[in-house]
Amino acid sequence: MSQPNPSAVDPGKIALRARNVEFDWAGVPLHWMPTEAFASHTVSALNLLLPEGERWFCATYAEALPLITDEKLREDVIGFIGQESVHAETHNKVLYEFLDANGVDPRPYVRQSEFIMRKVLGPRDASSPRVQHQQLVERLAFIGAIEHMTAFLGDYALNSRWDEFNAHPKMVDLFRWHGAEEVEHRNVAHEVAEYFGVGYFRRNIAMAITYAAFILLLIRGTRFIANQDPALPQVGVLGTWGGLLGAMRRGSLPSLWKMTTAVAAYVNPRYSPETIGNTAQAVAYLASSPGAKAGV
Ligand SMILES: [Fe+2]
Ligand SMILES: [Fe+2]
Repeated sequence: MSQPNPSAVDPGKIALRARNVEFDWAGVPLHWMPTEAFASHTVSALNLLLPEGERWFCATYAEALPLITDEKLREDVIGFIGQESVHAETHNKVLYEFLDANGVDPRPYVRQSEFIMRKVLGPRDASSPRVQHQQLVERLAFIGAIEHMTAFLGDYALNSRWDEFNAHPKMVDLFRWHGAEEVEHRNVAHEVAEYFGVGYFRRNIAMAITYAAFILLLIRGTRFIANQDPALPQVGVLGTWGGLLGAMRRGSLPSLWKMTTAVAAYVNPRYSPETIGNTAQAVAYLASSPGAKAGV
């Protein structure tokens, strides 16, 4: 896929709808960026986190929806749930049809993801309806923070240099299709968090925890895949960092500086998700995505 035009005029907020997609993973190699094994594994590691993470978004928003009386926000939340649900199940297929098919058993990591998202971060018994409501608001604060990161990563995927590394077009399309929908719905989680009264302090605590957890889980996921890859030597945490920093230097992954600067934008009291990405670029990509066209 050629890169979409990032300078297209932004049409602003648009009605959200889920799109069916179809990806055939047969024959896509584990090193889908042939000269960038580590970067391939780091991006592939997102598949280990996304299915359970996005199912958790959907379950939490389904819990929040009856409490939202603003009609426009309700519509956005329903569109958001539809899109995230397709994302979760599409990445779930990648776990088995791409990773497992290439000799990387995703099941041990998936079991851990399920435990974290369902038991640790899922709804817990509460002593009163007020405490139960606060637990929901905490989860909505975290989803707001995570969606700031997914909007940044979506914009990164849309404008990435992966084609220069001869990346497999199907994997590039998967992350550009998903990234484009993240850009398209980037306002929703922030608006939901604000609607439920998540303030400046709580939102930034959620962001700090989210960013640290994201980096840790991604390093763990990269190492998990790399250590099942017979073409690579076994690596520890330091070796994984070395692999990642090299890929960042060459431009096959976003640099730590770029990611940290993007995360830091959340600290601005006037923060708006509108400042990340371009809806026109995202919608144009979605209209041309082979995976989205195949799903129609
Ligand atoms: Fe998503
Ligand atoms: Fe999202």
